[in-house]
Formats: sequence, structure tokens, C-alpha cells
Amino acid sequence: MAKIWLFAVLFPQFMLIPQNIDFQEIQDPVFFEKEIQVFIKRFDKIHDLVSGNKFFKLKYNLDMAKKEGMGTLLTFGGAFSNHIYAVAAAAEKLGFKSIGLIRGEQHSPLNPTLSFAAARGMQLIYLDRQTYRNKHENSYLKFLEETYGEFYLIPEGGTNSLAIAGTAEMLTEQDRIFSHVTCSIGTGGTFAGLVKSLGENQSLLGFSSLKGDFIYDEMSRLLKKEQIECEGKFEILDKYHFGGYGKFKPDLIKFMKGFYETYQIPLDPVYTGKMMFGIFDLIEKDYFPAGSKILCMHTGGLQGIAGFNSRFKENLPL
Ligand SMILES: Cc1ncc(COP(=O)(O)O)c(C=O)c1O
Repeated sequence: MAKIWLFAVLFPQFMLIPQNIDFQEIQDPVFFEKEIQVFIKRFDKIHDLVSGNKFFKLKYNLDMAKKEGMGTLLTFGGAFSNHIYAVAAAAEKLGFKSIGLIRGEQHSPLNPTLSFAAARGMQLIYLDRQTYRNKHENSYLKFLEETYGEFYLIPEGGTNSLAIAGTAEMLTEQDRIFSHVTCSIGTGGTFAGLVKSLGENQSLLGFSSLKGDFIYDEMSRLLKKEQIECEGKFEILDKYHFGGYGKFKPDLIKFMKGFYETYQIPLDPVYTGKMMFGIFDLIEKDYFPAGSKILCMHTGGLQGIAGFNSRFKENLPL
């Protein structure tokens, strides 16, 4: 019932049916030569404001906040965060107050992400990096409650058990025709949901957008904590971060622009651009056997392009 309530508010004209998300085939002479098919599942198109994996990570959390009678959502994120943007939009749409605890100091004027969030009524509070590290501490959360009143906590990046229940819905029975599924990894909620719903003959590749091999331990901790069993196989790739979270190199930008010119599909420079670059590179290097059918999850993040372009004087297509 709660789920229906959320859909009805966010999608008044239609009910979102994950089976009906657009697929687009990505054709390339190299794929043809290697007998590999690549498709992209366009979750970036599912909603104008709460798009990509954000819809799935938030849906059950928003239901729960409503069920618990909470009037305020509180969450954490960086200054360009897709999650902050989506929470601000969803909160306004669904009648919650929202508070965003932002890592780092305030800059004036606000970047496009934060000015959007502020315009949606989100109260922005800036935390120095040291304080921001307390985001999981009970004592700090208690302090926040004493300061700002009762709230429903959505963790940084939105990843928790309810988010994973949502992201598990991104992969459906109909997607079992694909041999490989790919996604990018930040906090891991999307990857964990896909691990959960993977079919026994499928492999999942997660492209880490963070630098460092800590991601292996972090993901295995998350899967263990959530008691996620996997019917298929999964692998994490940590060589396509381009210098680390939020970092990039000219060859990534060149790839993303070329990708847009060829397929008219915008990618974001933090997550999906790196994932698609990785897929092309792996195909080139014969990572996938002939006959592979690859499904790439376009997890959105396009709101970040405006801020990226103005910050780095780039002109990535939107
Ligand atoms: C556009 C986009 N793609 C992928 C991810 C990675 O998702 P997760 O944090 O669940 O690993 C994020 C972060 O939430 C994101 O904003």
C-alpha cells in the first residue's frame, strides 16, 4: 500500500514497472567482431528529478519515513551529490522537510546541485571533514536529534537495507537473457541489490569509482551484514577510477563525448562514464567470451554534469 502511495505521488501518470525501462543497444564494430552484444538500461530516464538508482534506493526509505510518521528526512553528502539532489526533490514532492549535512565548507554562490536542493527547501548544514566522519556515530546522531529535532535518517549515498531491497528490483526476470550485468560502485547499495537479484547463470561486474582495494572488504562486509546470497558470480573492478572519486583524466572526457556523439546517451563523469569506459576497454582486451550479452545499468547522475562543467570549464553534454 505504502509503495503504491509513493508511486502515485512520484508518478501520477503511470506506475513504474521496472520491466518497462528502456533498453538501448550499443553497437560498435569491435563488439561485432568479437561477437558481443551490449545494452544499456536507461534508469536515467525514469524520473526527471529522482532518477537512476536513486529512485530505487529511496523508495522503501520514503515509505518507511511516512509509515513512522516522520516529518523530516536528514541525510549526508558531498557538495555535488546526486543523492542530496534526489532527497531534496523527493522530500519536497512528498511533503517532508529535509536537512542535508554537506561535507566541506560553504561556497558562494552555491553550485547547481546545492542551489537546486536549497530551492527545494532543503536546509543545508556544512560540516568540516573531521566532523563529517562522525556520520555513523550514535552519539553524533543523537546530538543532531537534540539540535534539529526528530528525523528519519537516510545514510550517505542512501545505502541501507531498505535501499538494497529497492535496488534489487532494478534487475528483473526478463533480464535473465543477459550473461553479464554491470554497474558502478560508490557506497555499494546498488551493487548489493544486484548481487541479490542475479540469476544463477549471470555474472555481475561492479566498477568502483573509488580508488583503493579497500572496496573488496567493504563490499564483502556489506553483503555479509545484509546476508545476501548470490546465485550467480560477481566481480569488482578497481582499475577504472581515473584517479579516485570525483577525479577524471582527459581520456575519460574524450570517451564520454565520443559516446554521446555516437549513441546520444549522456553519461556522468563520476560513475557511469567510468563504467562504460571500462566495458569498452574490457571488450577490447577479450575479457568477455564470444556470445556474451552485457546489460549495463545507467544509474543516472546527470544532474552533476552542470556543476562539473562549470567547475572544470568542460562542456560535457547533458
Ligand atoms: C549516478 C550514480 N551511479 C552509481 C552510484 C553508485 O551507487 P552506490 O552508492 O549504491 O554504490 C551512485 C551513487 O549513489 C550514483 O549517484
